[in-house]
Amino acid sequence: MRPANRMRAGSDRARRSVRIGKIMELTDIRELHREKDVYIGKEITVGGWVRNNRDSKNFGFLVINDGTFFEPLQVVYGDGLENFQEICKINVGAAVVIRGTIVATPEAKQAFEMQAAEVIVEGPSTADYPLQKKRHSFEYLRTISHLRARTNTFQAVFRVRSLIAYAIHTFFMERGFVYVHTPLITSSDCEGAGEMFRVTTLDPKNPPLTEEGEVDFRQDFFGKATNLTVSGQLEGELGAMALGKIYTFGPTFRAENSNTTRHLSEFWMIEPEAAFYDLDDNMDLAEDFLKYLIRYALDNCMDDLKFLSARQQEEEKNKKAEERSMELIEKLNFVLTHSFERVTYTEAIEILKNSKPNKNGKFQYPVDGWGVDLQSEHERYLVEKHFKKPVILTGYPKEIKAFYMKQNPDGKTVAAMDVLFPQIGEIIGGSQREENYDKLVARMNEVGISEESMSYYLDTRRFGSAVHSGFGLGFERLLLFVTGMGNIRDVIPFPRTPKNAEF
Ligand code: 4AD
Ligand code: MG
Repeated sequence: MRPANRMRAGSDRARRSVRIGKIMELTDIRELHREKDVYIGKEITVGGWVRNNRDSKNFGFLVINDGTFFEPLQVVYGDGLENFQEICKINVGAAVVIRGTIVATPEAKQAFEMQAAEVIVEGPSTADYPLQKKRHSFEYLRTISHLRARTNTFQAVFRVRSLIAYAIHTFFMERGFVYVHTPLITSSDCEGAGEMFRVTTLDPKNPPLTEEGEVDFRQDFFGKATNLTVSGQLEGELGAMALGKIYTFGPTFRAENSNTTRHLSEFWMIEPEAAFYDLDDNMDLAEDFLKYLIRYALDNCMDDLKFLSARQQEEEKNKKAEERSMELIEKLNFVLTHSFERVTYTEAIEILKNSKPNKNGKFQYPVDGWGVDLQSEHERYLVEKHFKKPVILTGYPKEIKAFYMKQNPDGKTVAAMDVLFPQIGEIIGGSQREENYDKLVARMNEVGISEESMSYYLDTRRFGSAVHSGFGLGFERLLLFVTGMGNIRDVIPFPRTPKNAEF
């Protein structure tokens, strides 16, 4: 090694040891904002990414965000610093570790700033960093999902996502529900809609065939045809028939070709299942659950919610007054303070049939009579225009619901429940389950589900069957509601939708 190089390596090592020592005691920028009086006059170290760098002749300003808070930290640096020239050239997006003293700046826009004593460039950036200061559209940001979490909006959304995930566990744990992990690879189709992603290790170009010329899945990895789960419910029911009250919370997959702002091909679902719960208990649980999560967000994410509210208000300026949604925090409080309207499907159809948009041909799918499936335009009419609060619809026609739902005595409807929310439509789908072996088998035969393939499920109806109920909450649909974001692709870090599995 030439002497010059050896010297550089030596000083790098020295710097690294200083840096590692400092990283141990990094202060979150959020802490500075929350407890500013504690930090004024103190020397601390922060680590983060540069949002802006302005320099003049003998001093400059760096704006640093470390992901903990949407308010950044402004850092002043002067030409007394050994690497002043290097600092002046720092590009937006660079990672830095900075030691300095927090000083009050009562005359400035922000209450305090940091006077840098040492600025270490951890990782430089370049002038073509895609997130420059100007505002970017969410469409553009989706094309750089690997970087979009460095923006204030996505940081706020992902922090709220994280805290609500935590609250989901506390809600159920406080009520004695057991967290059960249901499999992601399965051979059944819980919802019976056939919208499944196949899991196979067979050679797609040359799969083994049966004598009938079909793909021979007996030779596949699991010895049968398997797919990614569309719901953990069936296994969840098995858990409830042993542990009493359980819940699952995990990824769910649907190969449904729906390109809407409310559908993902991979989403997260929370599914509680409880023995000895009837439909009323189930509705109470769903309402308590949603209100608990919303209250949790208001109590624990207010800074981020205020930020997201301001973002939404800004966006809505361009909309007509009647199309604007309620202010975010007001909307969340509104849901907390109103009981959900419990209505039957039959009543809802009457309301929709006689509604103005139906009569004026404004619905894309006209409501002409009992038996039709409800579209999101109908759900939103009921919630936003008619009842003006969340609605729980029950008693759907059995033909439009899954085979496992409890059959009502009328022979036509099932004990289903869908919870409908403003702007979202269906946020929860659930039901009381058919616990009677004969009725369940009869329904399976009607819809063509083989008893043999579901023998494990039918066993629960043979050995100690009990009334039981459950539901599924779409995690991202709830997040849409809580964050006020308009597109479900923007509340999950790496969205999977038809023709899109980037990153
Ligand atoms: O209504 P779904 O299909 O119900 C079930 O899967 C039941 N097995 C649940 C149960 O009873 N345990 O789905 C439940 C919820 C929907 O209300 C919706 O919020 C969400 O899951 N969901 C989706 N979210 C995002 N993208 C999709 N493609 C979704 N499909 C359903
Ligand atoms: Mg549903």
